[in-house]
Amino acid sequence: MDKSALATILLLLWLYLATETKAVAEDRANKSSLGGILWASGKDESDFLAALDADDDYDMGEKDGGELTGGFSSLESMLQWAIGHSDPEKLKEKASDVQRLSATELSKRQAEIQELMEKLKMPSDAELMKIAIADLNNTSISLEERQRALNELLILVEPIDNANDLDKLGGLVVVVRELENSEPDIRTTSAWILGKASQNNELVQNQILELGVLTRLMKMVKSSYVEEALKALYAISALIRNNDNGQELFNLENGYSMLQEILSNITIDIRLQKKALLLVADLADYQQELAYGTKLSPVGDHHLFKSVVDLTSTNDIDLLEKALLAIKSLLRLPSIEPLVVLRDICGLEDVLERIKVQLEDLTNELGDYAQEMESLRREVHITFHRKLEKVSWVPT
Ligand SMILES: *[C@@H]1O[C@H](CO)[C@@H](O)[C@H](O)[C@H]1NC(C)=O
Ligand SMILES: *[C@@H]1O[C@H](CO)[C@@H](O)[C@H](O)[C@H]1NC(C)=O
Ligand SMILES: *[C@@H]1O[C@H](CO)[C@@H](O)[C@H](O)[C@H]1NC(C)=O
Ligand SMILES: *[C@@H]1O[C@H](CO)[C@@H](O)[C@H](O)[C@H]1NC(C)=O
Repeated sequence: MDKSALATILLLLWLYLATETKAVAEDRANKSSLGGILWASGKDESDFLAALDADDDYDMGEKDGGELTGGFSSLESMLQWAIGHSDPEKLKEKASDVQRLSATELSKRQAEIQELMEKLKMPSDAELMKIAIADLNNTSISLEERQRALNELLILVEPIDNANDLDKLGGLVVVVRELENSEPDIRTTSAWILGKASQNNELVQNQILELGVLTRLMKMVKSSYVEEALKALYAISALIRNNDNGQELFNLENGYSMLQEILSNITIDIRLQKKALLLVADLADYQQELAYGTKLSPVGDHHLFKSVVDLTSTNDIDLLEKALLAIKSLLRLPSIEPLVVLRDICGLEDVLERIKVQLEDLTNELGDYAQEMESLRREVHITFHRKLEKVSWVPT
C-alpha cells in the first residue's frame, strides 16, 4: 500500500469532514462511499485499508501527492495541521443543520483519525537504516534476513544525506564486515552498497578508505563469481574517483596491474573489461584535469597501455568504443611518456589504420553505429597526431 496515497486520502477525508457538511450528512445515510467506511469503522484499520486496496479510483492521491508535495511527510504535516486547526465547536455549528453530531463525537473522530495516522506513520530513512544495521550486527539472523537488510540499505544509501549518515549509525563497519561473509551474494551486495554510498561523495569515500577495504575489494575482483567481481570493481571505481588519496592507495595496492590482468585476460567476462576500460579512462581524465604540478602516480605502465590498445581487435563494438575512449584519455595525459609508449610500444598508428578497415567492413552490418565509431577513431587519430606535432622533438 502506498503510504503517500493513503495520506492524501486521509487528508481529503479530513477536509471533507471539516467542510463538506452536506456530503457528510449524505455519507451517513449511504455507507457504500469511502467516507461511510471511515465513519462506520474508524477504529478498524484493516477494513479501511482493504477498502482502499479494492478501489482504484483513489490513485489520484499518489499523483497529487507526488506533484504537490513530493512526499509523505509534508502530506502528513498537512493532515496534522488540518486536525490541529479545526475547532470541534465550529465544525458542529456548520454541521448542525444537516447532521446531529455532537462536539464530543467530532473530537472523538479527530482522535481516531490521529490514531490511525500514528499507526500508518512511515518510519524515517534514518530509522529504517538503524533497523537494517542492527539486523546486520546481529549474528543470529538468518541468511535471508541478512540479504534483505543489505537490499534495504542498498536503496537507502542512494540519497546523499543518507549516505552521509551511514558511518554515524555504525553502518559502514557492519557492511564492510559482510565483505568477509562466506556467501558470495552477501559479499556482492555489500560491495555494491559501498560503491553506491561513496559515489560522488568524498566524505564517504574517505570514511570507507580509512577502513582499509581496498585490498579486500581487489581480492573480490578476482572472484570466480562474476557478479561479485563486477560489483567489487564498481565499488573500487566509485571509491577512488576524483580522490587523490584513493588513487594513491589504489596504486600502492597494485591496482594498475589488476586492471592490466583484467584487460589482457581473454577468458574473462567482457563486462569486467568494459568496467576496467572506463576506470582507466576516468583515472587518466582526472590526471589530465589536475594537469601539471601534482604528484599522483602515473596511470599504469606500458603493459597496461598495451593491453588497452590490444583490446581494440575485439569483435564487440561496445568494447571497441570503450577501448578507443580509454586511448583518447591516455593520449591527453600531460606527460609525454604515455604518448611515446602508445606510438612505439603499442604501434598506435597501425592499430588505428586496422580499426579503420575493420569498421569499413562492419558498415553494412552496423550502419550508423559503425560511422559513429569511425568518427571516434578519427578523433583519436587527430589527437594522436596533434600531440606528436607538439612534441616533435621527442627522440624516436
Ligand atoms: C448511495 O450511493 C449510491 C452511489 O453513489 C447511489 O446510487 C444511491 O442512491 C445512494 N443511496 C442513498 C440512500 O443515498
Ligand atoms: C537477533 O536476532 C534474533 C533472531 O532473529 C532475535 O531473536 C534477537 O532478538 C536479535 N537480537 C537483537 C539484539 O536484536
Ligand atoms: C553491534 O553489536 C555490538 C555488541 O555485540 C555493539 O558493541 C555495537 O555497538 C553494535 N553496533 C551497531 C552498529 O549496532
Ligand atoms: C582469467 O580469467 C579467468 C576467469 O575469471 C580466471 O579463471 C583466470 O585465472 C584468469 N587468468 C589470469 C592469467 O589471470
